[in-house]
Amino acid sequence: MPIFGKLWETIYKILHSVKILFLMKDLFGQALLDYYNNNYTEDIITTTNISDDDILPISYLFRSFKDMPKLEQKALKLCKGKILDVGCGAGNHSLYLKEKGFDVKGIDISEGAIQVSKYRGLEQVKLKALLDETDQFDTILLLMNGTGIFQELSQLSKYFNHLKSLLNPIGQILIDSSDIKYMYEDEDGGFWIDANANYYGELDYYLSYKGEQETPIKWLYLDFNTLKLACKTSGLQCEMITEGEHFDYLARIF
Ligand SMILES: C[S@@+](CC[C@H](N)C(=O)[O-])C[C@H]1O[C@@H](n2cnc3c(N)ncnc32)[C@H](O)[C@@H]1O
Repeated sequence: MPIFGKLWETIYKILHSVKILFLMKDLFGQALLDYYNNNYTEDIITTTNISDDDILPISYLFRSFKDMPKLEQKALKLCKGKILDVGCGAGNHSLYLKEKGFDVKGIDISEGAIQVSKYRGLEQVKLKALLDETDQFDTILLLMNGTGIFQELSQLSKYFNHLKSLLNPIGQILIDSSDIKYMYEDEDGGFWIDANANYYGELDYYLSYKGEQETPIKWLYLDFNTLKLACKTSGLQCEMITEGEHFDYLARIF
C-alpha cells in the first residue's frame, strides 16, 4: 500500500476510535445492561432519515436460537473452526456457538454490550472496533444487518480488504443485509430514489433511550448485487445462501 494510503488508514482508525470513546454515549449498551440487571422499563427508539420512529424491543437483543430469524439460524449452522462474532451485542450468537463447543471471540464498540456478554458467560469478548481486530479466523460472522457496520459505500473496499486479512485460508464471512429499495416505493408502485443522491441504502441512524439521544451514526443496508460487486473489487467471492421473507438475505463471502 502506498505510504499516503497507509497514513490515511491510520488517521481514520484514530478518528474512529476517538469518536467511539468520546462521542458515543453508549445508550445501546446502557439498555442492554438495564435489561440484564432487571431494570427494564422501556425499549430503544430508532429513527432514520427515511423512516419514522420504530421500537427496537430490548428483549429481541437477548434472543435465543429458537427466536432468531431463519437467516441467523442458517448462519450459525454454517459456522466452522475459529469464529469471530463482529458487533456481538449481548452475545446471543456467540453464546449459542460456545454451547456447541466452538472457539468463538466476540468484539463490539459498546462497553455495555461487552459487559453484558461477559456477565452471560462469554470469556473471549473484547471492546474493539472491527478495523482494530488483527487475529485470524475460519468464520467471521456479521449478523442483524451486518453490513451496517461499514456505514457507507465508500468504506466497503477498506472493510473488505481488512476482513480478507482476518480470514484463514478457506475461511468464510457470513453476513446478512436487506435491499431496502422497497422503502422508497410510493402508493402507485413507483420509486422516488434521487439518482443524484448517495446510494439508497446509506441511512442516517438515530437512537434514543430513556429520553436521551445517541450521537447519530451512518448505517448501511446493501442489496446483494452491490455487495457482490464490492467483494469482487477486493478479490473476494460472494454467494447468496438464502433469502428471507422481506428483501433480506444471508450471503457467504470467501
Ligand atoms: C444491530 S447490533 C447487532 C448486535 C448483535 N449482533 C445481535 O444480533 O443481537 C450491531 C452491533 O454492532 C456494534 N458495532 C457497530 N459498529 C461496530 C464496529 N465498527 N466494530 C465492532 N462492532 C460494532 C454495535 O455496538 C452493536 O452492538
